[in-house]
Amino acid sequence: MFNWIARISTGIGIVAVLLAYLSFHHQVDPPIYAHTEMDALLQNFRQLNRSCFIVGASGESGKALLKEVVRLKPFARIVLISRRKLEYEDEELKKLEQRVIDFDKIDELHQNDFQGFDVGYSCLGTTRGKAGKEGFIKIEHDYTLSVAKAAKAGGTKHFQLVSSRGVDENSFFLYYQVKGQTDREVCELGFERVSIYRPAVLLVDRVERRPLEKVAQALLKPVAYIAPTFISTPIDILAKAMILNTINNGPPGAQIVDNKEIHQLGNSLTV
Ligand SMILES: NC(=O)c1ccc[n+]([C@@H]2O[C@H](COP(=O)([O-])OP(=O)(O)OC[C@H]3O[C@@H](n4cnc5c(N)ncnc54)[C@H](OP(=O)(O)O)[C@@H]3O)[C@@H](O)[C@H]2O)c1
Repeated sequence: MFNWIARISTGIGIVAVLLAYLSFHHQVDPPIYAHTEMDALLQNFRQLNRSCFIVGASGESGKALLKEVVRLKPFARIVLISRRKLEYEDEELKKLEQRVIDFDKIDELHQNDFQGFDVGYSCLGTTRGKAGKEGFIKIEHDYTLSVAKAAKAGGTKHFQLVSSRGVDENSFFLYYQVKGQTDREVCELGFERVSIYRPAVLLVDRVERRPLEKVAQALLKPVAYIAPTFISTPIDILAKAMILNTINNGPPGAQIVDNKEIHQLGNSLTV
């Protein structure tokens, strides 16, 4: 009896220490800008009359990004480039320019569709379960790289890609390996500025059924509460981070935005 009480107490003690450690190391850093500075950044950016394209605007991160883009209006022109026409109820969204392309033929047929944008966002994605191994590589690597190449040729100055935490070209896992290769090859294209976002598990109410993601999210919610930047990324925080990182005149070159930075940038967008 005494043994059991001792074991349970030790277990509770270990869990408490672990939670305290996680909570200490995975809090969101304070906002980078005060509210007035934020407002000035947005106003200044609007005056530049910049344009952007979004690929993957129908996906979860793409939808969240589009919502912020339409709410804050940093761009004079927004074009959605997809494999199908996207249908919207909202009047503002209905008015957006859309281009439907064949992603297999970007190099031969669609170079013009990527001509003349200041900023390009890529939120493409799939899962191995949905697309199979070949399909996963095609979408996550081939399509993403073709989009990035066409954008570079078309004059895009700032290319932004939603990647993932843990990517590594040398990984044993296909997911991390393919995304690691894609990130590197996109960086090597020589954009004036390229931002690669590496979020953790996206906290999102996905329309599509992904049972494993749902279970992971349910388990992660309490952890996300105690240690927000540890293992999860709310989808709206990712989108806000992308917007702030667009309007903030960041330094040229390649920038890897990790999950902690995504949280900080996202929480700094207070407008
Ligand atoms: N889910 C997570 O927890 C998580 C965590 C970290 C990183 N990420 C990464 O974040 C990125 C975006 O993820 P997400 O969950 O926002 O994606 P998502 O909801 O699955 O959306 C994927 C987007 O890609 C488009 N797409 C898929 N297959 C295509 C094809 N064959 N041709 C053209 N377009 C195609 C989809 O268009 P349709 O609407 O036409 O299908 C959709 O717009 C991915 O790279 C993912 O690996 C995800």
